[in-house]
Amino acid sequence: MEEKQILCVGLVVLDIINVVDKYPEEDTDRRCLSQRWQRGGNASNSCTVLSLLGARCAFMGSLAPGHVADFVLDDLCRHSVDLRYAVLQTEGSIPTSTVIINQASGSRTILHAYRNLPDVSAKDFEKVDLTRFKWIHIEGRNASEQVKMLQRIEEHNAKQPLPQKIRVSVEIEKPREELFQLFSYGEVVFVSKDVAKHLGFQSAVEALRGLYSRVKKGATLVCAWAEEGADALGPDGQLLHSDAFPPPQVVDTLGAGDTFNASVIFSLSKGNSMQEALRFGCQVAGKKCGLQGFDGIV
Ligand code: ADP
Ligand code: FRU
Repeated sequence: MEEKQILCVGLVVLDIINVVDKYPEEDTDRRCLSQRWQRGGNASNSCTVLSLLGARCAFMGSLAPGHVADFVLDDLCRHSVDLRYAVLQTEGSIPTSTVIINQASGSRTILHAYRNLPDVSAKDFEKVDLTRFKWIHIEGRNASEQVKMLQRIEEHNAKQPLPQKIRVSVEIEKPREELFQLFSYGEVVFVSKDVAKHLGFQSAVEALRGLYSRVKKGATLVCAWAEEGADALGPDGQLLHSDAFPPPQVVDTLGAGDTFNASVIFSLSKGNSMQEALRFGCQVAGKKCGLQGFDGIV
């Protein structure tokens, strides 16, 4: 039998990336150093990374026809991402993000443009043959529908012997109240620095301690904190930490978090410990920060 895949559910967008030597001031007129199109979106970026790491993966998110779709589809195919569960919507278009990367610091500023593209629904998810997957990762978006997806996976898992159970992770990246119901699903919950700060925490450790009671029994909460690396807290109450692995020069941090999540999932799916996975996540994400885009992370 073929090796099972990792499924990432979430967004694909087009990133229009402008690299500048100095962040532009309002009402000025200047050249950027370079401009490029890049496929983006958290789940889509995580698929890129999983595929570069050598994992078989699939993307489930909304698509729509048009030039942008042609570009992102072509790129997903180039990375051998399985698209059988991507959903072609009949309204809206693929979102685009204008991204400004400051070459001096590698920082990224993102301006989102959503284009009325519906998210994938629990009904769409019913069509997924769960037996294809060893791991399902859900990027928190339309949480009430995603809760139904997660419940479907739980029901499926309840009927499986341990080795056949699907492992599940959830990402809570945006500080939106609706997403917080997702804390109680999945064996691994990735919570962002943004959400942590929004909820009043000043560090990853503070956030893990403060939010751990929200995850389900036995789950591990993970919080990445840019240059400070990443921390995790599991059911044994022991705090785990990995330092960041700074590249010689930080040139592009766009998708660092998505790279981290994918690398942690990859490592755990190979049977490694959470400590090993955190370290691997920081290593690959650090390498990514030293590169434009994702090519070259392995
Ligand atoms: P994002 O802002 O994309 O969500 P994070 O800031 O949470 O990403 O960072 C994810 C991981 O990427 C961090 O845990 C770290 O390992 C790595 N990382 C991010 N920024 C840097 C940096 N400036 N130097 C080294 N590693 C970084
Ligand atoms: C990076 C990213 C970009 C995209 C934005 C969507 O994490 O996925 O590729 O523009 O975030 O929120």
